[in-house]
Amino acid sequence: MQQIIESIQHDIEQILDDLDQYGFAIVNQTHSAQFALGLLEECLSNLNQFREAAIQSGVVSKIRSDHILWIDEKLRMAQQHIKLLQEFSEAFNRVFFMGIQTIEAHFACYNAGEFYALHRDNPQKKNDRMISAVYYLHSEWQSDWGGQLRLQDKNDHWHMIEPEPNRMVIFQSDLLHEVLISKRQRLSITAWLRNGHSIWSSE
Ligand code: OGA
Ligand code: MN
Repeated sequence: MQQIIESIQHDIEQILDDLDQYGFAIVNQTHSAQFALGLLEECLSNLNQFREAAIQSGVVSKIRSDHILWIDEKLRMAQQHIKLLQEFSEAFNRVFFMGIQTIEAHFACYNAGEFYALHRDNPQKKNDRMISAVYYLHSEWQSDWGGQLRLQDKNDHWHMIEPEPNRMVIFQSDLLHEVLISKRQRLSITAWLRNGHSIWSSE
């Protein structure tokens, strides 16, 4: 498996600049086409294990209708994706002193009609999520299929971000955002770069 993972040179300086100026950054062509396909296949072959994201510890929430699968060591391709995020974390720690120590991540599947209403991943900085990184896995996306990520940047400007295949959106976890209703199956990996080790997971 290792040999198919050719790594792509990312413009880390651009990512750092954008995070600094806007609180978010967009990375296009995140992985090689071959690796992106491997990730998509891993996601699709595990779809039967996805659970309703709205139900956490038996509590039902109405703000989201997607299905998720938390990533563990059995999901080998997803682990490689997390490795890239670890490299990014080192740069964020060096430049922004974020103190990122751990990464948690899940696959997410929005079927037609599903959404995630306006929220922050780290409201009032009350958990240890510093950065959110959402990577899109589906092989095609058209803007009339909906499913955009609508995000308010750190200067309070709103952005509509298309969930383009092989794109990753990296943003401060305290920023307000939502996933608009998707008309097609929308597949992603959401990861959080955390500055602590506590076992904490929700939205
Ligand atoms: C999340 C989230 C955005 C997206 O999973 O918390 O906001 O574009 N995802 O999928
Ligand atoms: Mn979110």
